[in-house]
Amino acid sequence: MYTDLISFQDLTAEEVMDLLSFADELKRLQRHHRPFQPLLGQTIAMIFEKPSLRTRVTFEVGIMQLGGHAVMLETRLGERESVSDVARNLDRWVDGIVARTFSHDVLTEMAACADIPVINALSDRLHPCQILADAQALREHKGELSNLKLAFVGDGNNVCASWFEFAAHVPISVTLICPPGYEVEPEIRSFAEQHAGGRVQVTHDLEEGLKDADAVYTDVWTSMGQEKEKAKREKAFAPYQVNARVMALAKKDAVFMHCLPAKRGLEVTDDVLDGPQSIVLDQAENRLHAQKAVMVRLMERGKDGMCVKRRARMSNKS
Ligand code: CP
Ligand code: NVA
Repeated sequence: MYTDLISFQDLTAEEVMDLLSFADELKRLQRHHRPFQPLLGQTIAMIFEKPSLRTRVTFEVGIMQLGGHAVMLETRLGERESVSDVARNLDRWVDGIVARTFSHDVLTEMAACADIPVINALSDRLHPCQILADAQALREHKGELSNLKLAFVGDGNNVCASWFEFAAHVPISVTLICPPGYEVEPEIRSFAEQHAGGRVQVTHDLEEGLKDADAVYTDVWTSMGQEKEKAKREKAFAPYQVNARVMALAKKDAVFMHCLPAKRGLEVTDDVLDGPQSIVLDQAENRLHAQKAVMVRLMERGKDGMCVKRRARMSNKS
């Protein structure tokens, strides 16, 4: 049972699939303008250490649609007071925390210190909410996820790492095609390999990695927080730009995916990003539905008035 959403490593395959189906259901409800407000009267603190368009707007809109209220904090955690003090104060006032942090350790510390659920809105290591929305979009376009091959071209970064963790639960194959030195970090790669077997792979060869791909994914070469490495990264990643020639190495009906924001003309060309194979706006739209699913599962109160995390902690204490 998961009580926060920090990493897919904390979830079972059934829990991941449940979030995807629930996101589909919430999308249908929203399309029919059916009110669904299980978080009525609840308040969620949204902490953003880094800029955001999609994550911030979709969480705020989602919280409102679910009947809750969002409080926005733009701050660098751990600077004015300790992370644990922030978490333990918020715990007394609000019902959940959504946080985008530079350091992944800050997220795990908050989750350890607070009796309310903490949701990862992107850290330097992982971006699980993105992958739930992506998987929902991919399933909408391809019918099912089983046996699909996703080729991630570029940096083995937070987005790619969450795809690797996702593949540990869902029978999709994920191949990272990157320049040497930019692979997914070893701990995440070995978790994925242990659970997904040969379904996660790393290669430096575009042709080999893109062969038979149903989806071609890319992300920025320089993630937030890595700005000092920009010149070095642009040089290393230049041969890995997703353009029409690279798309042609995948299956004819492959979709193009990107978490956005994109650096047009660097990791992807305009014709691919805006072209007929691109599903980037469907991915962006689904951020709303996928995150609503996560928030309801973590924050909905049972008959005892408690969310899953508070209940679990109470029973551990007694
Ligand atoms: N994809 C994504 O997380 O976008 P933002 O950085 O705009 O939130
Ligand atoms: N890898 C990117 C994702 C942005 C949504 C970053 O961390 O900046």
